[in-house]
Amino acid sequence: MRIHIATIAIAGLALAGAARAEGPDFEKEIWPFVKNSCVKCHQPPHKDERGRTRKPKADLVITNKADFLKGGEDGEVIKAGNPKESSFLQRTLLDMSSDDHMPPEGKADEWTDEQKKLFEAWIQAGADFGKWERDPEVDLKDE
Ligand code: HEC
Repeated sequence: MRIHIATIAIAGLALAGAARAEGPDFEKEIWPFVKNSCVKCHQPPHKDERGRTRKPKADLVITNKADFLKGGEDGEVIKAGNPKESSFLQRTLLDMSSDDHMPPEGKADEWTDEQKKLFEAWIQAGADFGKWERDPEVDLKDE
C-alpha cells in the first residue's frame, strides 16, 4: 500500500510539473483581463447604441483565436515564445505618455503588473489558446 501511495504522489508531482511548463491557462487566467481592457475597441464591426458602425481599431480583432493570431494593420501582435516581439504585450508596458500605450489613457482598465507578467509567461510558454476559440453567442459589444 505504501508503494502505491508513493507512486500516486510521484505521478501527481509529474502532472503538476507538466501543467506549469505549459504556462498560464488562456481562458481562465488571461482572457478575463484581455476582455476587460481591450475588447471594447478590438472586436468585429458592430453597431453602437446610436446605430453607428464601429470598426475594430487598427483592424485588430481579438475576440476569436484566428483573428487574434492574424493581428492588425501592422501584422502579428503575438509571437509565440517571444514576448519582446509581441506588440500586444509591449504596448501595455510603454510609458503612459506614449501615444502607442494600450489601452489608451483613461479609456479602459490598465493591466496590473501581475497581469502583464502572466501575459508574458503565457507568450513565453508558446501562446497556447487551449480550447478557447471565442464565445459565439455573446453579444460582443457588451464585453
Ligand atoms: C479605447 C479604445 C482602445 C482600447 C480599449 C484598446 N485599444 Fe488598442 N488600439 C486602439 C487604437 C485607436 C489603435 C490604433 C492606433 C495605434 O496604433 O496606436 C490601437 C492599436 C492597437 C495595436 C496595434 C495593432 C496594429 O497591428 O497596428 C495593438 C497591438 C493594440 N492596440 C493592443 C491593445 C491592447 C493590448 C489593449 C488592452 C490592454 C488595447 N489595445 C485596448 C484603441 C484601443
